[in-house]
Amino acid sequence: MHKNLGSNEDGNDNISPTYASRLLSFPLPKYTLPDQSVDPETVYRVIKDELQLDGNAHMNLATFVTTWMEPSATQLMSETFEKNLIDRDEYPQTAEIEKRCVNILAKLWNAPDDSAFGTSTVGSSEACMLAGLALKWRWRMKRQSQGKPQDNPNLILGINAQICWEKFCRYWDIEPRYVPLSDGRYHLDPDLAIEKCDENTIGVIGILGSTLDGSYEPIEKLSGLLDELQNLKGLDIPIHVDAASGGFVAPFLQPDLVWDFRLMRVKSINTSGHKYGMVYPGVGWVIWRHPDDLPEDLMFNVNYLGGNEATFALNFSRPGNGVIAQYFNFLRLGREGYSKVIGQCQKTAMYVSSKISKMDFFELVSDGSELPVFAFKLKSNSNSFTLYDLSDAMRERGWQIPAYTLPANLESTVVMRIVVKENFSSDMADLFVNDLKLQVNKLSGIQTNEQGNRTKFHH
Ligand SMILES: Cc1ncc(COP(=O)(O)O)c(C=O)c1O
Repeated sequence: MHKNLGSNEDGNDNISPTYASRLLSFPLPKYTLPDQSVDPETVYRVIKDELQLDGNAHMNLATFVTTWMEPSATQLMSETFEKNLIDRDEYPQTAEIEKRCVNILAKLWNAPDDSAFGTSTVGSSEACMLAGLALKWRWRMKRQSQGKPQDNPNLILGINAQICWEKFCRYWDIEPRYVPLSDGRYHLDPDLAIEKCDENTIGVIGILGSTLDGSYEPIEKLSGLLDELQNLKGLDIPIHVDAASGGFVAPFLQPDLVWDFRLMRVKSINTSGHKYGMVYPGVGWVIWRHPDDLPEDLMFNVNYLGGNEATFALNFSRPGNGVIAQYFNFLRLGREGYSKVIGQCQKTAMYVSSKISKMDFFELVSDGSELPVFAFKLKSNSNSFTLYDLSDAMRERGWQIPAYTLPANLESTVVMRIVVKENFSSDMADLFVNDLKLQVNKLSGIQTNEQGNRTKFHH
């Protein structure tokens, strides 16, 4: 959200690039539409220069989102920017490619033949909204058919759930029932989740893996406990798996882990194509096990662009090139390529986490053996600096790593998280570890001389 500024707080309302006489030598207003036009090369230069101030995406260990794609993928994306995904009549081949991607993912997640279906989205947030709405509608239809009230739906999820679920509950009037974390367990406890279920529960969310520390929630166990609950109390509660990151990791790195449509109770799964699907933002996916899991009322038929196709989406127009890039990756990488690339990310994550675990100051919260993501905290006796200080210090060296507090009842625990993506090479990992040691030593008052001997730092 941005405020409409009368004038900028710093009193500087103009962009004033002075490229002598070659390019622009007069100011352009920042916050009002300029009166005159400017040639495109100059505008390109002005904006490109300003964007140099953004962080260096290659050193961003905070984001899960893809920061590098191959040149041919980038070329394909830039050649297909004009394709509007909703306009299936104009772009039937883009629609066909979307269908192929849905099929590939459904099979990757072991969906039963011929019944699963799904769609692309802008990202996991939209995908979660759609899946959550389907859970709500399905629950409401069941309650209606039983002549029971439908005014009090709730959703069960770990308090570690990504913010899109909080949004979903608030926007669509659903009571979120959060399962708390405990020290040493930073994701959903299925036993506690079951205790919160009742006849108004529209579903339970299982996360593969948690945004906080990259760990996988025990979805198979959750499913078994929900089976027991059904036997005991007759409550038939579905699971939606938020596999924003894990949907592209577990099938390649942990193929024997049972978390997907192999579990009958898993009715829908979402993922972000722009995380470990390795496409630039924004593309996501959601797949349902069976048409019964997605009530027809939620579908809309669009016929005024020609053709007639049912859609389920929050947006109408949206770029088709993310879907095309996803298909590029599927064909380009195949199972072999995804396994290699994500496997290397995991090796790097575990290498860096093992180095950090050997440093005096830190304790691992996770080690990168599930998602190639791990978190660490300060040992309780390390009080010469905070992780916020370290985050700032690493930024001096160009690295972006976030420090944040854990949610309710563990708010006093601050962790730092590292997301390893394809462009974080093992060479960069070594540079990163060296910089981390250097900055930690500085912050803790220890100076390292060139031979690597540690001496007390004199201020
Ligand atoms: C578990 C989980 N769910 C949902 C999201 C939201 O994903 P997106 O950014 O694709 O909307 C994220 C993002 O980090 C996530 O980690």
